[in-house]
Amino acid sequence: MSTPPAGKLPLPELAAMKRRGDKIVMVTAYDSPGARFAEDAGIDIVLVGDTAAMVVLGHEGTTVPVTVDEMLFLTRTVARQSRRPLVVGDMPFGSYQVSDEDAVRNAIRFVKEGGADIVKLEGAGTMTSRARTIVESGIPVMGHIGLTPQSATMLGGFKTQGRTAEAARRLVFDAHALEDAGCCSLVLEAVPAPVAARITAELTIPTIGIGAGPDCDGQVLVYHDLLGLTEGHLPRFVKRYANLSREIRDALEAYAADVRSGAFPGEEHTYEMPAEELAAFESH
Ligand code: KIV
Repeated sequence: MSTPPAGKLPLPELAAMKRRGDKIVMVTAYDSPGARFAEDAGIDIVLVGDTAAMVVLGHEGTTVPVTVDEMLFLTRTVARQSRRPLVVGDMPFGSYQVSDEDAVRNAIRFVKEGGADIVKLEGAGTMTSRARTIVESGIPVMGHIGLTPQSATMLGGFKTQGRTAEAARRLVFDAHALEDAGCCSLVLEAVPAPVAARITAELTIPTIGIGAGPDCDGQVLVYHDLLGLTEGHLPRFVKRYANLSREIRDALEAYAADVRSGAFPGEEHTYEMPAEELAAFESH
């Protein structure tokens, strides 16, 4: 692999990568080690996703409760460590639905306080207007259609979207609307591969798939899912590249056993003092 040029990946490079057929790699990150690992692995885009609600903050099965302030804290942490990858701040539920003005105000917070390069919001329809207004204020926007977890209740759960011809055509329409609104790229989540392939072929902006097949211009996975930190049910679209939860459990159990048996700390973990100082210390 050749060494990438120093400095932030220029935003127009995403569209150029699509034109060249170079796949875009995106992963979520929520903290400084995650951001550092992503940077060192040559990841193009780091998404501080509102999946933080579930994988970091412990909310079960929903992204809805995470707040703007919580997302800003995480985004700032990731942005601080990310020199090359573009950092996407995921706008949480409630931060852009109320009005265009509110959406711009919160998007500005993600850039100024969070250090995000791009903001992401879910949905089309009215949300297309939010995307357009944020772009007009000078902030790049990544769209997100298909399975949009913030509206999972309305969608009837975490389900594949666009499985009928009519629903698929609606997704194609929404994708064009978001491109026309000025989005710089588009996440396609849990949509049939042929639908994602059609959208990808018709748009000039890159698509980033998650459960959307191989023809998207890039792929994204949630850090905790791909590293095996998530326990329990995983969506079909996740490929696990490690089993870190097993490693962490084993390590913590070994540590606890060592402390209880006295095997830790050993001499090599212990500080000494000069013999004469020790003698003086112990003399009274
Ligand atoms: O919040 C998130 O992590 C996301 C990805 C699943 C695309 O939106």
